[in-house]
Amino acid sequence: MEELLVPGLGQVRVFLLHDDNKPRKLKYNLGHTRLLTFGGAWSNHIRAVAEAGARHGIETIGVIRGEEHLPLNPTLARAAACGMTLTYLDRDSYRRKDTEEVLARLRARWGGDVTILPEGGSNAAAVRGCAELPGEIGGDYDVICCPVGTGGTLAGISAGLPEGRRALGFAVLKGAGFLEGEVARLQRETYGRTWANWAINLDYHFGGYARTTPALDAFAAEHGVERIYVAKMLYGVLDLARRGAFAPGTRVVAVVTGQPSTPVEA
Ligand SMILES: Cc1ncc(COP(=O)(O)O)c(C=O)c1O
Repeated sequence: MEELLVPGLGQVRVFLLHDDNKPRKLKYNLGHTRLLTFGGAWSNHIRAVAEAGARHGIETIGVIRGEEHLPLNPTLARAAACGMTLTYLDRDSYRRKDTEEVLARLRARWGGDVTILPEGGSNAAAVRGCAELPGEIGGDYDVICCPVGTGGTLAGISAGLPEGRRALGFAVLKGAGFLEGEVARLQRETYGRTWANWAINLDYHFGGYARTTPALDAFAAEHGVERIYVAKMLYGVLDLARRGAFAPGTRVVAVVTGQPSTPVEA
């Protein structure tokens, strides 16, 4: 962990922890022979599943939102090169991808033995993988901060926290109040209980998913961080620290969940 030394934080200390959440979310999802999952055309999750499938000898199917565009963009080209079968779902069906109706259609087409991972990979196995993060942190801290797209990362981090520590997620989507219900649902699904040690800040979405502003772009460039998730979270952390939202002396760990060079989408 490296301390982020920027002016204006007062007695709040912010540490950056580089820890990609995608391997953690996939770790306990890999014991299958065939995996099917969902994502947009720039989905980092799709690519991560394709790469893990190639590494572990798992057949993978990527259900992509919208229509096929050729040539494939770099994300989908990489997924295809890893052996992933790409298929496309119209936007209306894609919105209903978690309903029994659409899932039954997919099972009928791809075989009942296929294991279906939700968009963003957030299921109970992913939560268990992410719950291992706090225990691996060397050094003391009070709050762990992370970006929130589908909620699995925050649900896991919260569940893995030692007594007295807190987790604070930053929603990257606009109007994302529903994510609180999602995080609680994921914790219940995984452990049969919820935790009261987490919260989600909804104020740093910068216009919505994958939206940006000149200020956010400048911030991401200055800190060399990925823009869609990590920059929003880190901007929020520093802004809250400067506004006195953390008590003096608070040690904040900001989890850098992805790298800037990769196009990222939940
Ligand atoms: C870099 C990065 N950070 C954070 C997230 C959000 O994680 P979650 O969907 O578990 O909330 C994602 C999702 O894919 C991501 O790619």
